[in-house]
Amino acid sequence: MNIAVKPVPASLPPNDHPYRNGPWTPLHEEVDARDMEVIGEIPADIDGVYIRNTENPLHPSIGRYHPFDGDGMLHMMRISGGKAEYKNRFVRTKAFGAEQEAGGPLWLGCMGRADETSPPGCGMTGHIKDASSTDVVVHAGEVLSTHWQCGEGYRLNPATLETLGIEGWVPANGISAHPKFDPHTGELLFFNYATSKPYMQYGVVGPDNALRHITDIDLPGPRLPHDMAFTERYAILNDLPMYMSQAVIDKKVYVPTYHPDEKSRFGILPRMADGSEIKWFEAEPTYILHFVNAYEDGETVVMDAYFEGQPDPPPLEDENIAPEYRKMAANIDLHSMQTHLRRWRFDMATGETREEVLYDDEYVEFGTINPKVAGRKYRYVYDVVGKPGWFLFTGLRKHDLETGETQKYDFGEERYGSESPFIPRKGAAAEDDGYLVSFVTDMREDCSECVILDARDITQGPIARIMLPHRMSSGTHAVWAEAEEFEAG
Ligand SMILES: [Fe+2]
Repeated sequence: MNIAVKPVPASLPPNDHPYRNGPWTPLHEEVDARDMEVIGEIPADIDGVYIRNTENPLHPSIGRYHPFDGDGMLHMMRISGGKAEYKNRFVRTKAFGAEQEAGGPLWLGCMGRADETSPPGCGMTGHIKDASSTDVVVHAGEVLSTHWQCGEGYRLNPATLETLGIEGWVPANGISAHPKFDPHTGELLFFNYATSKPYMQYGVVGPDNALRHITDIDLPGPRLPHDMAFTERYAILNDLPMYMSQAVIDKKVYVPTYHPDEKSRFGILPRMADGSEIKWFEAEPTYILHFVNAYEDGETVVMDAYFEGQPDPPPLEDENIAPEYRKMAANIDLHSMQTHLRRWRFDMATGETREEVLYDDEYVEFGTINPKVAGRKYRYVYDVVGKPGWFLFTGLRKHDLETGETQKYDFGEERYGSESPFIPRKGAAAEDDGYLVSFVTDMREDCSECVILDARDITQGPIARIMLPHRMSSGTHAVWAEAEEFEAG
């Protein structure tokens, strides 16, 4: 292995936080590696990058730490011609630079209580650190990293992972963690949310990275949406009954409350239309972190996402976790939230909603699809199952929505994977003809690896395992981008 390591200064004291130890132990080094050991064979027809965003706090946040406060670090595999190169870099946000200069924390964590001495920050509350540590997409030839509670969005070079700066088209209220890339048009659809009007904005960025459209979405009050969906013609936004009330916001506590007596609402808007044209549909109350896909079927809009059976779970009953962390830990545990795969059908003619469970044998989340079917009728969903009580992914699932069959692959004891994007095989005709790629952290062997599976049969396990130069912290979202997507930019 050919490797170059650069340590990054940190001021993080030892602690008992469940998400700063074990598989979530933060990394404080940046590494370039090539000629890594490969078990199996990297398919020669793969040509692109796999990038995962992870939280690696360099300093303890002020107030109680939440794993989503950690400084964003991207891990990238460049795979081409049967070979792979790896590098990881912190996203050099404004907050990263300021805290490195100060040698310690300057911002509240998202669980902290703000007061008049709190420095201005990002997000709907205006107080937390924009760590740019939640999602990552590739658009207009560049990498874009995002933060869960409406950050500024940071551009990075897809070859070097050098941070280039704040994305120029991002509006004053920022962008949510999940802008959606439509590979058919090259557009990026996004939304944001705030504690004052406009409570939500929706917009479209062109393939040339210029803002093409932005419009206000009228909501009854502040909301806390996380993701959105789209079809060929429509954007799908949401107004779910999990939000911070105005009274709570006025006290600067910023704790959301679930309102089980209120309906979920989904707003469907032609992609480039004014917000006043949005058509709202009511549905069973829930909270949704992530949408899988959506498409049009005549006058019906079909949308698949992860329904939460228990959006406001009780604290974990785990004696190994300090009591002050047990509610936070439950809020990011798939088993506590009871996430299952569900389908909603919105009749654009009648305004009616129908709901159907697609898979609830296990709690699943973090779905991926073949990008060629994004916004189109499709057949296969790939997602993960989690370790009970933890934000850790223990296995992959492949759902055939036509037959109802599910394939399973588990990473192995004390091995935790990532959101696993689909890589279409060159020249493929079948929707599932391609690969799944995932980073795996192995606590028993104290290492990490990148695994590639044949998406047609994930039960066979990896066809290639690329051994990484260090053990990475677990994290949140990941993306695959074909070489032509970033080399064209
Ligand atoms: Fe997310």
